[in-house]
Amino acid sequence: MNTPNHVAIIMDGNGRWAEQKGMPREFGHQNGVRSVKKIVEEANKHKVKYLTLFAFSVENWERPSYEVETLMRLLVETLRDEFEDLFNNNIRLNAIGDVKSLPNEVRYELGKIINNTKDNTGMTLTLALSYGGKQEIFKAVKEISEKVKNEIICLDNFDDSIINDHLYTKNLPDVDLLIRTSGEQRISNFLLWQIAYAELYFTKKYWPDFSEEDFTDAIIEYQKRERRFGKTSKQL
Ligand code: IPE
Ligand code: IPE
Ligand code: MG
Repeated sequence: MNTPNHVAIIMDGNGRWAEQKGMPREFGHQNGVRSVKKIVEEANKHKVKYLTLFAFSVENWERPSYEVETLMRLLVETLRDEFEDLFNNNIRLNAIGDVKSLPNEVRYELGKIINNTKDNTGMTLTLALSYGGKQEIFKAVKEISEKVKNEIICLDNFDDSIINDHLYTKNLPDVDLLIRTSGEQRISNFLLWQIAYAELYFTKKYWPDFSEEDFTDAIIEYQKRERRFGKTSKQL
């Protein structure tokens, strides 16, 4: 069957999941980590080549400092705990976003695993951290403009591969399937350029409740869609 090559997920609804249970939002984030582990394994089983998870947006820095600190602590703990499994499953870790703005400890763990898994040949797991799609495009435009000014890039040869090469995602293919949990139907500044022709899948499930079966359902739904890329059905 036609498995999506690149699946991206907006993992949303941790806070509401916890509040529904009369628990603090942090409890939702802890349980969200469990879903991350399950879904990474499941995507790997489905032989998805690229899985990209929206873990922390540039806008999320505006949350109460206690919540931001909890998220960063969970990130460090998860990276430490999961390193071996990632490695043994032949998964390559990658990160996109303004990684420089992350706390030193996060950058250290992230850098270590990215380096240690760089020769793995299985699924590429990309974490979007301090990520914003508009900020990514802005950064690319700025870098390209500098290169045009310095005559490193010539406007006559300009095509979309030049833009791709200046995005955080330069080594990733376009997204085939974008999943968002929690019932919200918006993109929230996630991969803007890269989802131009992605199939969108929204589910009401909160992220901590999103199971292996739910992931499989999304893949099945994707397989039923006809991706026409502007053509007619007959032309495909
Ligand atoms: C997603 O869950 C996790 C992050 C954004 C870090 P939320 O924390 O946004 O949970 P809700 O949407 O408020 O329920
Ligand atoms: C998007 O979720 C960011 C992540 C899942 C990391 P948000 O909860 O921050 O998005 P909004 O505020 O509902 O648009
Ligand atoms: Mg949310």
